[in-house]
Amino acid sequence: MNAETPITETEIASLVERFYAKVRVDPEIGPVFNDAVRNWDAHLTLLRDFWSTVLLTTGRYKGNPLLAHFPLPIEERYFARWLTLFSETANEVMPASHAAIVTHKADLIALNMKRVLASRR
Ligand code: HEM
Repeated sequence: MNAETPITETEIASLVERFYAKVRVDPEIGPVFNDAVRNWDAHLTLLRDFWSTVLLTTGRYKGNPLLAHFPLPIEERYFARWLTLFSETANEVMPASHAAIVTHKADLIALNMKRVLASRR
């Protein structure tokens, strides 16, 4: 695979599945997810749609990620852990050039989310 190969739905599916498998057992951020997510299959489908929309502009995700995070007990420091696990997973499941793209997007979204959450507290 070279740098010009587009990111695929298969890569996104692997990223989402493996990332949340790590998240669920993570001592720092796992509890936030395990307390909030009632149906993991539905969550993984939603997050596949989200990343497909962000990365491939498929428009399958119609939600509002910011709103979904307002009620959650998220500490600012959790974002660093989230991003570390995300970047680590991206590099395991896709070529480095693709991992760099998805990690960059996640960084931007996380930064914005962090700012908005901080401004509400
Ligand atoms: C410390 C960081 C984060 C924590 C602890 C966290 C936790 C969660 C939890 C528990 C849910 C499920 C909420 C529910 O089902 O009621 C959720 C949903 C979601 N998260 Fe995060 N999240 C974090 C950061 C992020 C980031 C950086 C992104 C995007 C790059 C993201 C994208 C999403 C999306 C798209 C949803 C689904 C929202 C919807 O219901 O439409 N999250 N998050």
